[in-house]
Amino acid sequence: MHTTVGIIGAGPAGLLLARLLHRAGIESVVLESRDRGYVEQRQRAGILEQGTVDVLRTAGAGERMDREGLRHDGIELRFDRRRHRIDFPGLTGGRSVTVYAQTEVCKDLIALQLKEGGPLLFGAEALGVEDADGDRPRVRFRREGREGREDVLECDYLAGCDGFWGVARKAVPAAVSRVFERSYPYAWLGILADVAPSHDELVYARHDRGFALLSMRSPSVSRLYLQVPAGTAAEEWSDEEIWDELERRFETTDDWRLRRGPVTQKSVTPMRSYVHEPMRYGRLFLAGDAAHIVPPTGAKGLNLAVGDVVTLAHALTHAERTGSPELLDAYSATCLRRVWQAERFSYDMTTLLHRAPDADAFEDRLQLAQLERIASSRAAETDLAEAYTGFPLFPLG
Ligand code: APR
Ligand code: PHB
Repeated sequence: MHTTVGIIGAGPAGLLLARLLHRAGIESVVLESRDRGYVEQRQRAGILEQGTVDVLRTAGAGERMDREGLRHDGIELRFDRRRHRIDFPGLTGGRSVTVYAQTEVCKDLIALQLKEGGPLLFGAEALGVEDADGDRPRVRFRREGREGREDVLECDYLAGCDGFWGVARKAVPAAVSRVFERSYPYAWLGILADVAPSHDELVYARHDRGFALLSMRSPSVSRLYLQVPAGTAAEEWSDEEIWDELERRFETTDDWRLRRGPVTQKSVTPMRSYVHEPMRYGRLFLAGDAAHIVPPTGAKGLNLAVGDVVTLAHALTHAERTGSPELLDAYSATCLRRVWQAERFSYDMTTLLHRAPDADAFEDRLQLAQLERIASSRAAETDLAEAYTGFPLFPLG
């Protein structure tokens, strides 16, 4: 089997890359180890920056998003039982974000790819990458139901879009790799609940008992998170304990109330910051979670993946049309500038709002002072609003 661009992984990064290449008339094959149902149901964040929304529209994948996505013009910061709204358009010259779950982005892209695009193989697990720095990189893979037999996909370029646990990154020799990493002593316990969101915008709450986040999937489905110690299992918390704790952390001095409803899903997300440099080795290009992870507090993971594949699709198209590798050569550095801005913002939001297990009163006061600063200074507020609504997609300067 041969193709122009081999893509490992059908998360948002791999699917959007395939779509952008298809629009540019470039052939690709996508290998995804899991089945379609799994990819379409996996719960992740769902905050789309304006740039992400624009890309999905341009890629012809924005129709349902435009109908069902919810435009949000702000978020609320909650601390000391007080509420402070950040007004995005007012602070950023009109920018906002769109709430449209990653599951829905994936469903839309999968439907388009199966209808119009090149092969998208589910149940096709990449086992390893060979000759990444040669002229014809190869992926060895195994298809479900054909155990004992290995297939090979040979390609001109290879995109590693296989997430943090994938195999593509392992093909980059340690001698040329540099890894930057932080783990955090806490995780997020997330629930989906069949109840209308208790607020019409996201609420990020800092509390002495830990962080809490109110988000949503639709006008009738809430998504909520609680900071819990790293290593916590979801079963350790009953639904009632979760609601009680959310109520404590979201408490305000006014008459705001948390609505409760049946919990339909419960899971724990670990928190990590991670960057692998460079994002390119020979003809292998890493994109999305395969190259970098941010803690979810800044809602940047999906948007970063989109930034990577837009840059990559543009560079591959340029190379195919002109024969010039200049944009491919710039790929890693171009992406990393944006990646590190998102790493910084996600780290700042995380450490501002979470309570470390060993935090003392000094750190508590510093967090509150920083939140006061944001709530009372237009400059500080603008800084947050600009980062939250998104960094430019092409920081080429
Ligand atoms: N072979 C084939 N597919 C693989 C392999 C493999 N060896 N290993 C992993 N995959 C698949 C996974 O099953 C998954 O569907 O690669 C895909 C990677 O998708 P994501 O983890 O969603 O990563 P990415 O597309 O980079 O998305 C980045 O969206 O999913 C969120 O939290 C993520 O916000 C981040 C952003
Ligand atoms: C979500 O809706 O899942 C979500 C929203 C904002 C975040 C993280 C997750 O910062």
